[in-house]
Amino acid sequence: MKIDILTLFPQMFQGPFRTGIFQRAIDRKLVGVNIHNIRDYTHDKHHTVDDYAYGGGAGMILKPESIFEAVESIKPDISIEEKDDELPVILLTPQGRLFSQEIALELSKYSHLIFICGRYEGVDERVREHLVTDEISIGDYVLSGGELAAMVMVDAVVRLLPGVLGSEASSLDDSHSNGLLEYSQYTRPAVYREWAVPEVLLSGNHAQIAKWRREQAIIRTLERRPELLDKANLNLEERRLINRLSTSSYAREYKGQNWLNK
Ligand code: ADE
Repeated sequence: MKIDILTLFPQMFQGPFRTGIFQRAIDRKLVGVNIHNIRDYTHDKHHTVDDYAYGGGAGMILKPESIFEAVESIKPDISIEEKDDELPVILLTPQGRLFSQEIALELSKYSHLIFICGRYEGVDERVREHLVTDEISIGDYVLSGGELAAMVMVDAVVRLLPGVLGSEASSLDDSHSNGLLEYSQYTRPAVYREWAVPEVLLSGNHAQIAKWRREQAIIRTLERRPELLDKANLNLEERRLINRLSTSSYAREYKGQNWLNK
């Protein structure tokens, strides 16, 4: 996957893409990230990227020219007039559709993505109308610019690319990937202070462990994010479990040491 990011603050991207699985993905050429300084696409002496808003008002607006030119330099063979469905040009903005694991999965299918990081009070509307194919927000709060949002999105997308994570299976159990939050995880020691790991996990019975984990994921989702359950893919037995759990304090007991004997 090729990722191009347009920003006024390229230095912000130095750290996050140089660590851990991301660096490995770059080294293995599973992803290539190019950071473009929007200021490099200006033609005046002062490298002006913003200007006052027509009609007045506080704050500066990012001018359209350098943003258009930056995107055109990345995809020179494609007419900007006809928006290209094959190449998402994503504007990071609190006005966009809300980012989710589903959108991360959707974007991970493309071979090339372009991100435009907004700054200051906004971006000239013609960028939205004639250049951008998608507007995305990472949450209902306002950041100083789209850079951190782009990093969040790129991270979530890249870890879904085949071969990026150690094992292919490891993103399948992630919270949100199956519509549920992830089950609780334990490692050694089996007893820490007086807190024991649920015995089912030590049983070696993989079918029982899978069942327990699935139930824990459902319980955790019910407790913390019940609205997610509406969209989760649950069978009849699991729906019944939720009904039982929602009508009693059963959930807490259900998680404990006696799960195998219930
Ligand atoms: N730019 C400023 N705030 C943002 C947000 N919440 N999501 C994406 N881009 C932004």
